[in-house]
Amino acid sequence: MSDPKSEALKMMPYGFYVITSKTDDDENAMVLNWITQASYEPQLIALGLQKTSHSYGLIEKGKVFGVNIFKQADADIVKGFTKGRAKNPDKMKDASYTHAPETGVPVIEGAAAYLECKVVGKLETGGDHDIILGEVVGAGVNKPGDAGETLNLPDLGWNYAG
Ligand SMILES: Cc1cc2nc3c(=O)[nH]c(=O)nc-3n(C[C@H](O)[C@H](O)[C@H](O)COP(=O)(O)O)c2cc1C
Repeated sequence: MSDPKSEALKMMPYGFYVITSKTDDDENAMVLNWITQASYEPQLIALGLQKTSHSYGLIEKGKVFGVNIFKQADADIVKGFTKGRAKNPDKMKDASYTHAPETGVPVIEGAAAYLECKVVGKLETGGDHDIILGEVVGAGVNKPGDAGETLNLPDLGWNYAG
């Protein structure tokens, strides 16, 4: 029997992003769809971040993260970051990226735009993901356009909800 809570949660539409992180001696990139703007002033972003991910430890330590936004036409770039560090230890070695000026977080080559954020809060949910709150302290737009052209989770036929 299907669980209507899971079924309803799966009906919520999501974007799809590459979240980057860094400390003094490590950097990483992961895919994520649980993200939203959470305030206009200051401009805040909230992430639902898996506690067991490698990125979680880096964001906790480095206190910064990047949000890489892609066009639908560039979906193939994002696919290189779907595996976790444990399964794909070389994912950053194989990736092309630069560093954002304010925080130094990786900016993935081919991203249409990026946000760089400083962590300003964390909500320990007691569940398998925590909520990380970041203030947007910088951004860049490489391929201008509207949100209708942005890569979303359903464009890939994948699901992460329920
Ligand atoms: C389609 C898809 C959506 C995902 N969405 C999220 C998400 O919203 N939040 C999250 O913490 N992990 C999400 N993940 C899982 C992470 O990408 C996964 O835990 C990854 O291994 C973490 O990488 P890391 O260990 O290198 O940090 C998603 C994975 C996929 C394939």
